Amino acid sequence: MRKRLIVSAAAGALALILSVPASAAQAGPGAAGIGDPYYPFAGNGGYDVSHYDIRLKYQPATDELEGTTTILATATQDLTRFNLDFVLQAKEVLVNGRAASFAISREQELEVTPARTIAKGSPITVVVRYADKPGEVERGGYSAWLRTPDGGVAANEPEGAAWWYPSNDHPTDKATFDVSVLVPNGTQVVSNGTLTTSQRPGWTRYNYRQTKPQATYLATLAIGKFDIRQDTTPGGLPVITAYSPDLGANAGAARASVERTGELVDWLSSIYGSYPFDTVGGYVPNVPTGYALETQGQIFYSPAQFARGSNTSVVVHELAHQWYGDSVSVQRWSDIWLNEGFARYAQWLWSDHENEGTTQELADFVYDSHPADDPFWSVKPGDPGADHQFSGAVYDRGAIAIQALRNTIGDDRFYAILKGWQTERKYGNATVQQFQAYAERVSGQSLGALFTTWLYTPGKPAAGTSGIGAAPAVAGLAPAAAAAERPEPKSWKKIQETDSVHDKRH
Ligand code: ARG
Ligand code: ZN
Repeated sequence: MRKRLIVSAAAGALALILSVPASAAQAGPGAAGIGDPYYPFAGNGGYDVSHYDIRLKYQPATDELEGTTTILATATQDLTRFNLDFVLQAKEVLVNGRAASFAISREQELEVTPARTIAKGSPITVVVRYADKPGEVERGGYSAWLRTPDGGVAANEPEGAAWWYPSNDHPTDKATFDVSVLVPNGTQVVSNGTLTTSQRPGWTRYNYRQTKPQATYLATLAIGKFDIRQDTTPGGLPVITAYSPDLGANAGAARASVERTGELVDWLSSIYGSYPFDTVGGYVPNVPTGYALETQGQIFYSPAQFARGSNTSVVVHELAHQWYGDSVSVQRWSDIWLNEGFARYAQWLWSDHENEGTTQELADFVYDSHPADDPFWSVKPGDPGADHQFSGAVYDRGAIAIQALRNTIGDDRFYAILKGWQTERKYGNATVQQFQAYAERVSGQSLGALFTTWLYTPGKPAAGTSGIGAAPAVAGLAPAAAAAERPEPKSWKKIQETDSVHDKRH
């Protein structure tokens, strides 16, 4: 991407010298990446998507997926060519109704050359027709389509979309979605938003509609046998939950946890403000993965998370992401603390609420359980690097940072920030620096030292910094003695079961 930018800048300079009209000078290909330092080819330049219409037909027995995705976008420059992030076999591409030429360039890039240059500011309708077996398509040994005995699932972060629809795959380009999937009778489909179905002989069509802005990695698709339940919360919010019938010994614990979604989303609303989407829910497919994902309004859970019994803590984590991650999304993937730090902290709040350990006890416990030479302290939650985006430190040290903020500014201002930030940035994107500036504005305090210490400085901060890792004053004990005697909070193990595959992107 960098190379391409330099080339087009040089072309621009030349055009200026030859005094070619400015509009012609600006016309060129859209960049192959949106400019995210962690993932140079994530997203694309030159256009902005407003809507995805994804129509699929899937055969679970053979993994054959046929699709037509229609993308509504606006050109942000004069465009001679643009990229989509996609790995499946495209058969035909139309741009504004005319056949466009297309080619696979690099790993996950579909390069589209429309018949005519698209003027900056004008609407673009892109239709991509494709057919492939997504489970067999690998990039770097990885396929984001998890095959199950009766179908497949797409749910991963940051990459997942390219295995089922072409997109501008970056959280900064949010759009609304219609996902419509035709499957043989007896097979069910799970995706985001409200659900309607229609029948034709032998086949059922599942139509899902997401009317609120949604980041591409938060769109999910699961096809297979599911027991789908539809209900509403006492407040009238539609709840959709779905379970594979083959969860075996984990089935009871999975349902006992995910069926509490309505109650837990109400509790979180009392902290963060009103729930940002039209539907809420969760699904548990028959997959061997260990993580969950905060897919918008329809959360992906792994059966493994319920292998040791029910776990409402993981449900709280993923529901907290509906605000911290989904409604307010990262501007760059390096801002991941805004997602994971806050989702982890929500689990600490839930622990406190359930009398299973206070947020301070959890912060002190994390602090004490990692000695100064533990590599845990080498990861900076405020800029962890692509390889450590989901490291334990982003979650646990990230949540300590939030407790440190609370200790520094007091509960009233702290809770005002938790809620106010969500209003300020609803359906948008934000950086850690913008969060710091907001917290400074609301608290009237300068927080530079606090953020630098807990988010941006490798190494274990001294005991007592921002009230973390110090013996409580009332204990009357020296910090070291108190630390040695600190018991494991009751909630600890459940909290740790949220993600069993830290340090891995895939
Ligand atoms: N955002 C997810 C969560 O914390 C983590 C996804 C990590 N991905 C992975 N493959 N481990 O809920
Ligand atoms: Zn998370």
